[in-house]
Amino acid sequence: MRNKILLGTMLAGVLSAGYALTFAAPSADAGAPKNLQVYPKNTDKKALKKDMKAINKALDVNCDFCHDMSAFEKDTDMKKQARSMMKMMRSANATLKKNGFKGRVSCNTCHRGSKIPKK
Ligand code: HEC
Ligand code: HEC
Repeated sequence: MRNKILLGTMLAGVLSAGYALTFAAPSADAGAPKNLQVYPKNTDKKALKKDMKAINKALDVNCDFCHDMSAFEKDTDMKKQARSMMKMMRSANATLKKNGFKGRVSCNTCHRGSKIPKK
């Protein structure tokens, strides 16, 4: 549980600080992400994977819940929903920050190990 919170916080950090990762050198290698619309385009592959693993934990799913495993850049319906969640979370975190709150929400704040958050 504690571990989940930690991972969730890390994810919130990446998405809310927004662009905390832009210091990473833009990578031009073949394995670089091709279709990032929420994360900065030049997000480091390793950092992205770490966040993706945190998402797996928060929803208790595997990568294939959202991805076509032979083409991670391809947008599936579930990936699009996840992307809209990322945007919602980013705006919630921006609002929290703007209003002086220190806490941030992560996927795990709501999901806590479920695809659909329990009431
Ligand atoms: C709940 C849905 C979800 C799960 C589960 C998930 N991802 Fe993602 N993934 C996304 C979304 C959404 C994006 C696009 C982010 C953006 O637009 O900035 C993405 C982007 C990526 C990319 C970049 C693809 C490209 O070329 O643009 C990679 C690589 C990736 N994910 C790998 C993984 C791996 C590996 C796992 C499992 C450890 C995983 N993902 C689990 C939703 C998910
Ligand atoms: C403020 C609470 C909240 C946060 C934060 C949140 N979610 Fe959600 N999420 C929900 C709710 C509520 C639903 C159910 C929506 C519905 O009624 O269909 C949902 C549904 C989803 C679904 C669809 C699941 C399905 O089986 O249809 C995905 C995928 C998802 N969230 C991914 C994410 C990811 C990834 C993050 C972090 C980037 C995230 N969510 C953060 C509340 C949240």
